[in-house]
Amino acid sequence: MWNELAQQYGTPCYVYDKKLIEKNWTAFFHTFESIPHQICYAVKANSNLAVLQVLAKLGSGFDIVSGGELARVLKAGGDPKKIVFSGVGKQDHEILSALKAGIGCFNVESQFELGQINQLAKSVGMVAPIALRINPDIPIKSHRYIATGLKENKFGIPIEEALFLYLYAKNLPHLSIVGIACHLGSQIQDAEPYLIALKKLLGLVDELAKKNIRITQCDIGGGYSVKYHDEQSFDLHKLGKVILPEFKNRNLKLLVEPGRAIVADSGVLLTKVISTKVQSGKNFVIVDAAMNDLIRPALYEAYHDIVPCNKRKGEEKEYDVVGPVCETGDFLGHHRKLCVEKNDLLMIMNTGAYGFVMSSNYNSRPRCAEVMVDGEKSYLVRARETLENLWENEICLPE
Ligand code: LLP
Repeated sequence: MWNELAQQYGTPCYVYDKKLIEKNWTAFFHTFESIPHQICYAVKANSNLAVLQVLAKLGSGFDIVSGGELARVLKAGGDPKKIVFSGVGKQDHEILSALKAGIGCFNVESQFELGQINQLAKSVGMVAPIALRINPDIPIKSHRYIATGLKENKFGIPIEEALFLYLYAKNLPHLSIVGIACHLGSQIQDAEPYLIALKKLLGLVDELAKKNIRITQCDIGGGYSVKYHDEQSFDLHKLGKVILPEFKNRNLKLLVEPGRAIVADSGVLLTKVISTKVQSGKNFVIVDAAMNDLIRPALYEAYHDIVPCNKRKGEEKEYDVVGPVCETGDFLGHHRKLCVEKNDLLMIMNTGAYGFVMSSNYNSRPRCAEVMVDGEKSYLVRARETLENLWENEICLPE
């Protein structure tokens, strides 16, 4: 299959498995199906229209962080009422588009933003549904760039200030308080931090009830880990076990915002060996994918398995797998045992999340193609960029 895909679509190319995306989403659904809940897929993980379309068809909601993501979700047929808008720097035009679309909730990150959304809602004669995103100040074991729930991070509202801000929001006529939210970070391997955060949020929900502020939805964010290497994949069953009892006898809808856990393992970056090279006793495999296609190894020293599509018989050597980009940081994997030759195909595994979406044109490399496989069938879901695409928005100076 991989040979045919490479032949048909070229390399490098991302390949997503539709059935796996559906399976991952359904696992979340089954975890929470005994209570009112809504899965809001975090669009940032993979925003290809076909991926969003698959999830919209399942009835998914969406967590967006920009006007661009809003436009994509609407284009893919997502239900605006199931959209939550997160993010620390929402711009006026983005808020207005979200209001016009009739999204379900703005997850608000500051007093300033409460005023901003109130003003904008007023200007179009609407009332904006809001939740406050609380910063629960819970340390998690993850890369420091992707931990968000600590009070020194830029995200959310310190829990001590939340009550005051809810009272402030209550007095703003163009806001309607519907919820409470938090997000702890990404690649969290344990259910425990979610329970700790949830308990903090529910404590606040009870405080608010005393002040006549009724919260109807509680969003515990995303961050559920996947297994890239020696970490654990997230135990949803355990999450359900600790989270669900907390919702008993509460008229509260649970929201979750998984991104990575829905799409990461559905995706493979298919790449071809350009050449091999021995230098100062070190072996390199140079492939046609690079840091501009997949930046996670360079940016976070992230590990992705690298697997040959057709295993060769022969002695394996230890290689650094690198791309053609002119930076030492351009690597896809270090110290990998492989037996490869020119034109061999390799799969960079678990790249369905934060892969293509973080790609760039660095070194004037056209962005690669994206393909979705559904059983025996495959579909091109984003064409490889052409050279003309590289400069189509550029304008030469007059002669
Ligand atoms: N909700 C909010 C408010 C978020 O900021 C994020 C991710 C998510 C949900 C989804 O988190 P997930 O379930 O995918 O872990 N580029 C990094 C990950 C950055 C995550 C940022 N926020 C990476 O490649 O590992």
